[in-house]
Amino acid sequence: MNSLLGQHILSVEQFDRDTITHIFSVADQMLPYAKREKRTTVLNGAILGNLFFEPSTRTRVSFGTAFNLLGGFVRETTGIGTSALAKGESLYDTARVLSGYSDIIAMRHPDSGSVNEFSNGSRVPVVNGGDGANEHPTQALLDLYTIRKELNSHDSDLDGMHIAMIGDLRHGRTVHSLSKLLCLFKNIHFTLISPAELTMPDSVLDVITNAGHQFRITDSLEGQFDADICYQTRIQEERFPSQEEANKYRGKFRLDQEIYTRHFKSKTVIMHPLPRDSRADANELDNDLNANPNLAIFRQTDNGVLVRMALFALILGVENKLKQYEHNVPWYAAHKD
Ligand code: CP
Repeated sequence: MNSLLGQHILSVEQFDRDTITHIFSVADQMLPYAKREKRTTVLNGAILGNLFFEPSTRTRVSFGTAFNLLGGFVRETTGIGTSALAKGESLYDTARVLSGYSDIIAMRHPDSGSVNEFSNGSRVPVVNGGDGANEHPTQALLDLYTIRKELNSHDSDLDGMHIAMIGDLRHGRTVHSLSKLLCLFKNIHFTLISPAELTMPDSVLDVITNAGHQFRITDSLEGQFDADICYQTRIQEERFPSQEEANKYRGKFRLDQEIYTRHFKSKTVIMHPLPRDSRADANELDNDLNANPNLAIFRQTDNGVLVRMALFALILGVENKLKQYEHNVPWYAAHKD
């Protein structure tokens, strides 16, 4: 098992199975705090620098929420245009400066490799919140945590599972990171459904093949998919050279209740990293699935807080001190489900 104490989290490639099991066991311990049944101030006085140089809702806010739930403070920078990067400052200099103001930094940036480059200048641990089309390691961890929970509730397991990934597999960093993480398990079967121009990159297919797993590539959502997990994704329009180019693919792989019933098992778990594109010409995950108990998308977002709390606790070395700094919650807490 790799210790995460003081470490950067840049790629899923730094995890092994034992480390993941440990992260998930710490995440399980975070549930009473995330549900506001108890409060812990174990990170009292610590500062998270939350740097989001690309749009985000759930990653940015759940990093901040996770840090606050551990008793820490959050300082945010959002958008390149409002930072000195717009004046030509390098990522290295930005990192040297901001790591003087923070105990840990979470960062998202539109360029592949940028968070790695930033970490070279940082004096504190850096967590990758998504770097271009490259990786999104904390999303992959929360996805895997969710998959494990959902499968366990069906008396099933990660080893031997079948996942269907749908949509923009070329630019979708969440499917790149999740695929690599799944390769740590045994006998995974991948069905990769995308337009021919948006197939999974060879670098990820090589990881799948070298780890001895099976994959099938198709550009059509035809027939029956014997998948345990259906992982839908958005066309990553921000990665295309023009909006017109991205529009060619929007709405190609819609999923609604009727299509789900036709192609998937009655127990297939439906996932999506979100945001889902709900505009009429895309509508990749229809609202009529909201009543489907197998729709796990909001369980994913809730689990993201637990996993990010666990990472902060492990990186800052307080995972065994949560109860020591525990308090009762005197106010009405609605977060019970
Ligand atoms: N899943 C995800 O990364 O969502 P945001 O872009 O809202 O952070």
